Amino acid sequence: MRLLGIETSCDETAAAVVEDGHVILGAEVASSSRLHVRFGGVVPEIACREHLRCIVPVVQAALDGASVSAETVDGIAVTNRPGLVGALLIGTTAAKALAWAWQKPLVAVNHVEAHIYAAHMTFSGLAYPYVALVASGGHTSIYLVRDVFTHELMGATIDDAAGEAFDKVAKYLGLLEESLHGGPAIESVARGGDPDAMDFPRSLIEEGFDFSFSGLKTAVLYRCHGQDSSLPTAAPRLSGKELGDVAASFQEAVVDVLTTKLIRAAEAASVNRLVIGGGVAANKRLREKLYQASEEHHLTVFFPPLAFCTDNAVMVAGLGYHYLAAGRTAALDMDTQAQVERV
Ligand code: KG4
Ligand code: ZN
Repeated sequence: MRLLGIETSCDETAAAVVEDGHVILGAEVASSSRLHVRFGGVVPEIACREHLRCIVPVVQAALDGASVSAETVDGIAVTNRPGLVGALLIGTTAAKALAWAWQKPLVAVNHVEAHIYAAHMTFSGLAYPYVALVASGGHTSIYLVRDVFTHELMGATIDDAAGEAFDKVAKYLGLLEESLHGGPAIESVARGGDPDAMDFPRSLIEEGFDFSFSGLKTAVLYRCHGQDSSLPTAAPRLSGKELGDVAASFQEAVVDVLTTKLIRAAEAASVNRLVIGGGVAANKRLREKLYQASEEHHLTVFFPPLAFCTDNAVMVAGLGYHYLAAGRTAALDMDTQAQVERV
């Protein structure tokens, strides 16, 4: 079965054609990230305008890349929650229009569950149950995943997401230029730094499965700009060596917390598989530390390929296949949801 997937929950307009939940025939992503940099965060109106401009060419490019026509697509999967409502509306409206025009079934996909599913694109035999972490710009949550449809929330951030902390710290360090996504810039500067140089806080590390990253973010802000700073406008007063040390120490604090909580969750749920998804899953230090900790605790950890950690439509079409195969389709009056209730 062949699905067209569409993703527009934040600042990426993406489309993909995937067969049987794991064979990628075509994929396309356009990002408006660089347009938001001077505002310091995603501006929903700008994201929406770019989605509107890009949605048709991106869908067309994915279909062309896959060399498939409307007749050979079996269904359309689209992210309808959670995300920026205006942005979601553009993807869902495009998907509904195509479903109606082509007379194909429509499938609604949860963006966070799609991030978890991304690992299945490479590991098609990945078995359930497992514990999954989604760490992105908007989410940091741990789930016990019992099957492709059943995700039980074990813990989540009580304030900022891990990716958001990477983005804000990159801003404090003057590293945001081309994109709002600060993770890759932090990772690259951290390579020359000492992860033990500064003892940044690891909030809530001692207990449970919830996260808190806002104290860490503030600690880095004070370290770079002084205690009297609110929001930095000037470039930080740091030398090259200090910059590397701050980035490496910050990254280490995030990675320590994510690793500790995941291992604890796997032990509490008595599972021996871990799955990581979301933009932060692209971080090499996180991968290194989790592979090492998993080996020590006799667990196996599965990461998606780098290209499917950040927002994409391959994971949407991949997960959508299982919904379509099970007959769990959506009506053309399907809604979008900004937030998904904490269960
Ligand atoms: O999953 P994603 O594309 O969008 C959301 O659903 O939010 O994740 C984007 C987030 C950004 O905060 C970005 O800085 C972070 O993922 N990210 C990284 C890396 N690559 C992307 N964080 C740490 N290290 C990376 N290599
Ligand atoms: Zn995402």
